[in-house]
Amino acid sequence: MKRVGFVGWRGMVGSVLMQRMMEERDFDHIEEPVFFTTSQVGEAGPDIGKAIPALKDAMDIDALKAMDAIISCQGGDYTKAVFSRLRESGWKGYWIDAASTLRMDDDSIIVLDPVNRRVIDKGLAAGVKNFIGGNCTVSLMLMGLGGLFKSGQIEWLTSMTYQAASGSGARHMRELISQMGVIHNSVEGLLDVNGAILDIDKRVAETIRGSDMPVDNFGVPLAGSLIPWIDVALENGQSKEEWKGFVETNKILGRSENPISIDGTCVRIGAMRCHSQAFTIKLKQNIPLDEIEAMIAEANDWVKVVPNSRDITVAELTPAKVTGTLSVPVGRLRKMQMGGQYLNAFSVGDQLLWGAAEPLRRMLRILLE
Ligand code: HSE
Repeated sequence: MKRVGFVGWRGMVGSVLMQRMMEERDFDHIEEPVFFTTSQVGEAGPDIGKAIPALKDAMDIDALKAMDAIISCQGGDYTKAVFSRLRESGWKGYWIDAASTLRMDDDSIIVLDPVNRRVIDKGLAAGVKNFIGGNCTVSLMLMGLGGLFKSGQIEWLTSMTYQAASGSGARHMRELISQMGVIHNSVEGLLDVNGAILDIDKRVAETIRGSDMPVDNFGVPLAGSLIPWIDVALENGQSKEEWKGFVETNKILGRSENPISIDGTCVRIGAMRCHSQAFTIKLKQNIPLDEIEAMIAEANDWVKVVPNSRDITVAELTPAKVTGTLSVPVGRLRKMQMGGQYLNAFSVGDQLLWGAAEPLRRMLRILLE
């Protein structure tokens, strides 16, 4: 693969992508990396350890057309503005995209190669050119529970999510920290006073509900609270984030014609960049727990089964532990009171890595092989 174009490499997902590509020396495999910009045409590109041309215009179809592959983390509006024009101009290159715009199109594959390499290879052989990153909760669920899905033993599944601020964007992460600061400031000087907890609590509640809380991005307080709705509403009462759990999972697994039933409630919480999920899984049979653990653990190199004991769980199965790593721990594995076919599980994963950048860079590597 000769020329690979990068769009949106300076944003949050794009920066994580660059970081990972440097760590894995991906640029050694690209003859001509070309960086595009929507605002700084002609300026110098990033330092990737080899010479690159000056930044090109990301809206220039002719410049984009010269690429063998384009990888975009610029967002859905950019994809909408450029992709169709580029294809209509006759461009036959590979389009790899973090945005959701093209995910459910028939001529797109949602990429998560540790889980669906077979689907990707089949698509490549059939001439598919559009490879799109999945929704972060979906990708993280499949990285964690891929072994169970592969076994064909899941009858249905619910996923109750605890999603980090980063899923909404960098400004939201900043706002979460600002909210935390405003709350702390409102009780400064009171925190070390014995017996004042109800005063502290009252002041915190007033602050959270008051006009000093910065809420321009989330619209409501997240620090000291949570937001049980992510993305827009659908007519059936689900949020779009909840709907994605069903449609994208089945598309990734290549079983949209014979889908596994998946539903749940998606909730934003005050974590920075790790999404957590609590699962209830109805199995087709009463499989022994040690077999289930083995299936989960053997599915890929990043999933890790965490024993269902308190000390290990609180140390290993948290956003604080997992953030910034590719590890996807799965724990709280136990049969539920409802019976031997009902499995409880909990997973944590970094939504900027496996939930966004990593599947894209791995797809590019597949094309470069
Ligand atoms: N939609 C996800 C979220 C992030 O809001 O957390 C990207 O998949």
